[in-house]
Amino acid sequence: MNKQVVVLVGAGSIGMAIARRVSAGKHLVVADYSREKAMRAAETLENAGFECSTIECDLGSKEDILKLVEYATSKGEVTNVVNAAGVSPSQAPVEEILRVDLYGTSVLLEEFGKVIAEGGSGVIISSQSGHRLPALPQEQNEALATTPVDKLLELPFLKAIDDTLKAYQYSKRCNVLRVMYEATRWGKRGATINSISPGIIITPLANDELHGPRKEGYLKMIEGMPARRAGTPDEVGDLAEFLMSSRGRFITGSDFLIDGGCTASY
Ligand SMILES: NC(=O)c1ccc[n+]([C@@H]2O[C@H](COP(=O)([O-])OP(=O)(O)OC[C@H]3O[C@@H](n4cnc5c(N)ncnc54)[C@H](O)[C@@H]3O)[C@@H](O)[C@H]2O)c1
Repeated sequence: MNKQVVVLVGAGSIGMAIARRVSAGKHLVVADYSREKAMRAAETLENAGFECSTIECDLGSKEDILKLVEYATSKGEVTNVVNAAGVSPSQAPVEEILRVDLYGTSVLLEEFGKVIAEGGSGVIISSQSGHRLPALPQEQNEALATTPVDKLLELPFLKAIDDTLKAYQYSKRCNVLRVMYEATRWGKRGATINSISPGIIITPLANDELHGPRKEGYLKMIEGMPARRAGTPDEVGDLAEFLMSSRGRFITGSDFLIDGGCTASY
């Protein structure tokens, strides 16, 4: 029971890159709505010396998140939480994006904020997409940050969203605001929580976008950005590692854009 536990939700490319950097010597719980993906990721990581277990978990289900909390805490003290699960605009309809990316992430922050260990840390993967949304009225910012999770999806301005890109942008903006709100609660337990907003990072999710209806816009962004290339999951992993290390203890409630300069040049 003295084991330190890292929880990874979303066994994809970015999640695995972060897990590799923060899980050595700890027990890593790999959670994904696809049991197969979770098991494949755990097998790869076990073959690289990590101790893992897997659990099926739909980020958009409060019931599944509560089961995940119970499972993770039965393994030891949860010192790190990484949320790298999500669905993109080309992968799911509006309701599903809001349920998983917006509501699910908010529930996860709240529930792990109740059990995170003293000195622990967490990282939520948001997106540069949230930075593309024009400034919101202050009451919308406040509503996204502070509305009780069970009422979030009833907010009228969220119910009015009718396209998947907007649903994704609102979700990712909400992730950043929710992290700010939760940082005070996590801080009472001596823990930090931050978000990272990646630009275009080559992963299966980005490949779906690069072959989806917004393909042209994506290729234009890559051509026009100062870095002149897409990013890699390892580059996001390096940033997450810093935020979750002892050098990141003064950083909490913040969002970090890592997008090759894309937002700056747009
Ligand atoms: N790749 C990019 O360009 C990019 C840019 C900005 C933000 N992001 C964000 O990064 C995060 C990680 O994505 P990635 O690029 O590593 O893609 P990925 O496809 O490699 O990983 C996403 C993972 O999330 C899992 N997942 C999807 N829905 C889920 C659900 N309901 N419950 C639990 N797991 C679920 C998938 O099974 C997959 O393993 C996502 O939140 C995404 O929005 C990615």
